[in-house]
Amino acid sequence: MEPAVKVHKSDAQQVIKYLRDRDLVNDTFKIAQSGEDVIIPVLGDFSLSSSFPYDTIEYEFELRDAPPSSLQEALEALLPDFDPTNFPSSYDQIGHIAVIDIKDHNLPISNEIGNAIMSSNSTIQTVYRKSSKVQGLYRLRPLELIAGEDVPVTTVKEHGIRIRVDVRHTYFSPRLATEHHRVANSLADGVEVLDLFGSLAPFSLHITRRLNAKCDTVDINPAVIPLIEESVRLNQLKGSITPHCIDAMEFLDNSLTLYDAILMNHPSDSLPYLAKALDNLKADGFLYLYIFVPIDRYDTHISDLLRDYNIRINHIQIVRQSSPSEYHVCVEIRK
Ligand SMILES: C[S@@+](CC[C@H](N)C(=O)[O-])C[C@H]1O[C@@H](n2cnc3c(N)ncnc32)[C@H](O)[C@@H]1O
Repeated sequence: MEPAVKVHKSDAQQVIKYLRDRDLVNDTFKIAQSGEDVIIPVLGDFSLSSSFPYDTIEYEFELRDAPPSSLQEALEALLPDFDPTNFPSSYDQIGHIAVIDIKDHNLPISNEIGNAIMSSNSTIQTVYRKSSKVQGLYRLRPLELIAGEDVPVTTVKEHGIRIRVDVRHTYFSPRLATEHHRVANSLADGVEVLDLFGSLAPFSLHITRRLNAKCDTVDINPAVIPLIEESVRLNQLKGSITPHCIDAMEFLDNSLTLYDAILMNHPSDSLPYLAKALDNLKADGFLYLYIFVPIDRYDTHISDLLRDYNIRINHIQIVRQSSPSEYHVCVEIRK
């Protein structure tokens, strides 16, 4: 027998909410119904003020089924013909949102896959499937809601830093957290940084959280600006971030600042901006150029690509494998 609260079914929702808000519902057991009454299992140390107008009783509850512990287990429970080789095994989590790539043959069961993700991960409330590749000037990924609520704005935590993200209208990749952290750790206090193609400013947030640095973050997508401003308010930053919604070339043409470090993480189109960016770099500054390169002999490929620039390659960092034949790399450049 377990401690319980007995309420008339007309009051049940309100009482469950009251108890849940106080973490008093005992989720080991299923809520029961007996005639017109709903019986809610409550925690053993349950004590309510004398003004609580409901009966507390002892009741023999059924155990609640344990939630599936993995996506595979959840899919097995939902789909009788489940064959693990045919199903997705992973997805990206961005705050309360899951983003998954579903192969064409599984599209008819997208909703079941979305529900399986939500039942195996209680922190997910929204599931989108990638309906196309990252595309366009703003590098956005078309998304289709397959389960949960259509709420594309969330807060992500990267190495303790809170970043406001709109997965529909801004670029964000949860796979770059280590790179954001690495770059922030390579810089020193007092630096002036230009975060070109900064999107939601994850680099600038990592840097100014760690250092008393000044970051100008530049992106052509106006949707990033209010989100960056929210992120700045959410974190206790040692430095300062100034967001600019402007074309990178226009910013470089008009800027009077010489920077200690320039970050150019726009791997599909950063190269045309390199010469101009070098004009805005201090003589002893560092430029972090991000590009996609073929995996095969990638270092030779990078040297060939940069042959005509008057620069030194200080280090090449493989950020991640972006496709079966391609790396996303960071080339650290000095003048
Ligand atoms: C790959 S994303 C940025 C990634 C970001 N730095 C990060 O680490 O998460 C590229 C960004 O460049 C911006 N962009 C594209 N062309 C631009 C231009 N000509 N001037 C300024 N921003 C541009 C896009 O809006 C997009 O947000």
